[in-house]
Amino acid sequence: MVNIKVDGKLLTVPKGQNLVSAAKDNGIFIPSLCYFEHIEPPLGTCRTCTCKLDGKYQPACTMKVYDGMTVEINTPELLDMRKSLVEMMFSEGNHFCPSCEKSGNCDLQHMAYELGISVTRFEHLFKDRLIDYGPKRIIMEHNRCIKCKRCVEDVVTDDGKKVFTYQGRGNETFVGIDYNEEPKLSEEQAIAAMQMCPTGAIIVRGVSMAHPFGDREFDIHSEQKNFTRRFTKAHKPAGMEKKVLATASLAGCFGCHMSMLDIDLELLDLVELVTFNKSPLTDIKKFTGRCHIGLIEGGVCNDENIETLREFRKMCDILVSVGECAVWGGLPAMRNTIPLSECLEEAYLNCVTSEEGANVVPYHEDLPKILDKVYPCHEIVKIDHFIPGCPPSANHIWKSVKHLLWGEEYSILYSEFKYD
Ligand code: SF4
Ligand code: SF4
Ligand code: FES
Repeated sequence: MVNIKVDGKLLTVPKGQNLVSAAKDNGIFIPSLCYFEHIEPPLGTCRTCTCKLDGKYQPACTMKVYDGMTVEINTPELLDMRKSLVEMMFSEGNHFCPSCEKSGNCDLQHMAYELGISVTRFEHLFKDRLIDYGPKRIIMEHNRCIKCKRCVEDVVTDDGKKVFTYQGRGNETFVGIDYNEEPKLSEEQAIAAMQMCPTGAIIVRGVSMAHPFGDREFDIHSEQKNFTRRFTKAHKPAGMEKKVLATASLAGCFGCHMSMLDIDLELLDLVELVTFNKSPLTDIKKFTGRCHIGLIEGGVCNDENIETLREFRKMCDILVSVGECAVWGGLPAMRNTIPLSECLEEAYLNCVTSEEGANVVPYHEDLPKILDKVYPCHEIVKIDHFIPGCPPSANHIWKSVKHLLWGEEYSILYSEFKYD
């Protein structure tokens, strides 16, 4: 046994044990994504587990404990660094959780919940990536691969041949699948590969990952015993005077507004406590004065959306992005990986529901001008708070709004904080 110090706490652990496992055995959470206990040596590809070991930044999953080792895990700098690494994975891939088979069972999504990520600080790249339908049994969804290398190291046929390989170099690296070896996997082996992939990049044809909402692996399971998401300090409570709310729906499905209506009996409280200014809920189309809080649903897809959003920023003290589309484009942003001209041609000329003989994409000076892509709201104006979810639950929206307006204390529960 050896003695190590973790965030100032002395632990006695078996000599040579992996640091992530040693910490876990002692109830200490080191966030890790690519680490799989049975893969030796550890892959060390994601760097989510970066800690300060004897004063130096190192990935904890590649380290074995030794006597006198000092480990720093939860300094503000390390927390932020780790968060930014996972945010980069989201902005680098095309992650649309509400439409993903792995949602709720996804290690990447789970890690983002654990780290309290509601939005990425980086611009989304929205690269045009292949979905490979070539293999016999598996579909490779390259949009979701985080290049963790688990499949490359761990998936082999019965005669020991690798099924997945890294191809390309540097930024162009991708995980290729061997079309000759893949059919040799049994159905069980293919399903095991799908389950071992931390994201929804490996899908087995005809096999659903679906479990009912609330019953999926990461719906209620948090690694951190006392999971409380840090919620930015609210404005100072200013008594319970009536507050003024404004809402808008941009490029979205109106689902977040429907969720707001789902707050049931609390709607009665709401009527007592707030008045609505501009809002499609009340059909008030113009601002008649300043508002305490503006709630925005939907991403920004045309020039009219930009104008509305800028007006909200001008007229509201606190501006909140509500729901996946407002937070990072959501489902409407699925068009961002395809050139706009192709989207319009498909919608107006070539789709099965197009008018017979249709040969023009509608254009008129009164029609809003469509942007090259759908933008999250914070890329257009400053946003003060983000409430992710597709849609976020009514309870969650209402609790967040109350917190922001009256400074009521509010810890966001793990089970409440969702991207889908
Ligand atoms: S569930 Fe996971 S793999 Fe799927 S889109 Fe979300 S983060 Fe990506
Ligand atoms: S396909 Fe899945 S397991 Fe393979 S590298 Fe990508 S994310 Fe990792
Ligand atoms: S978990 Fe350590 S590098 Fe990925």
